[in-house]
Amino acid sequence: MIVTTAQLFKCAYGKYAIGAYNINNLEQTVGLFRGNMESKAPFIVQISQGARKYTDKRFLEAIIRAAEQVFPEAIFAVHLDHGDEATCYDCIDSGFYSSVMIDASHEPFEKNIEITKRVVDRAHAKGLSVEAELGQLGGVEEHVVGTVKLTNPAEAKEFVQRTGCDSLAVAIGTSHGAFKFKAEPGKKLALHFEVVAEIQKLLPGFPMVLHGSSSVPKSEVDRINAAGGKIQDSSGVPEADLAKAGKMGVCKVNIDTDGRLVWTRVHRELFRDMPEKFDLRDFGKPFIAEYAKMIASKNQMLGSAGRLDEVRAALKT
Ligand code: G3H
Ligand code: 13P
Ligand code: ZN
Repeated sequence: MIVTTAQLFKCAYGKYAIGAYNINNLEQTVGLFRGNMESKAPFIVQISQGARKYTDKRFLEAIIRAAEQVFPEAIFAVHLDHGDEATCYDCIDSGFYSSVMIDASHEPFEKNIEITKRVVDRAHAKGLSVEAELGQLGGVEEHVVGTVKLTNPAEAKEFVQRTGCDSLAVAIGTSHGAFKFKAEPGKKLALHFEVVAEIQKLLPGFPMVLHGSSSVPKSEVDRINAAGGKIQDSSGVPEADLAKAGKMGVCKVNIDTDGRLVWTRVHRELFRDMPEKFDLRDFGKPFIAEYAKMIASKNQMLGSAGRLDEVRAALKT
């Protein structure tokens, strides 16, 4: 069942975070739904602009609609990830999406407010909610190349009040992609939880979002490289931090890169270990199973696992 993002955030706020997972194709979608059903978790399906362009946006919509029927127990929202203004309008008008993200975080403060407010007005008129972003993550997004700029809590309050956005992506030290932080033995990334705490104090009950939250497991990178890959040594967000964030008003945690690493590891190892195979299903099936396993394990960390019945009951009240 597709629900609004706002409904999911209301259930989760202060208790746990909902996993927001990017999809690009059928195998990923099936693995995503299986993993969430196995762990009994509500979730958010994210579609980036790149994913919409990869084949044709209509395929993704059709795959998700089919998944809704194949997995009748699933409770999820459909969200546009990192949208520009035009793509937000296209998604708002499509009638398919639960929410959109307008990412004007690369613009100066006033311009970000101006663009976000326009999108909020259009989205709210059609019952969708809007995620905006303030501050800058590191790494590369499709139309934004960023250097880190932590979110300023006082600005966050003003931004939310003036735009009317429904959730805010905050920059607290995470970054996009597989190369987040140099892997240094014994050294762990310290996220700026003081920024989250201050925003929660200034905007009580207001949902925050964490982008760039993959953990880039060393074991995964090592397996990829042992099977012929050349992924640079790097480390990501410690998974325990995600659970902590979930208790501090972060309602949505975005994960894409870790799924890409699972895809790469599964395919590289299978190509190495089964050189005689050429049926694409011999590769797709194990990928779906491994992807589902990763999703279920992320949900355990986020605290969203086992919440499905609770959410279903809340939706009825
Ligand atoms: O933050 C961006 C997401 O990982 C989506 O990546 O734009 O390459 O689809 P993409
Ligand atoms: P990762 O690259 O850390 O998976 O972040 C994904 C993301 O933020 C999608 O919006
Ligand atoms: Zn992102």
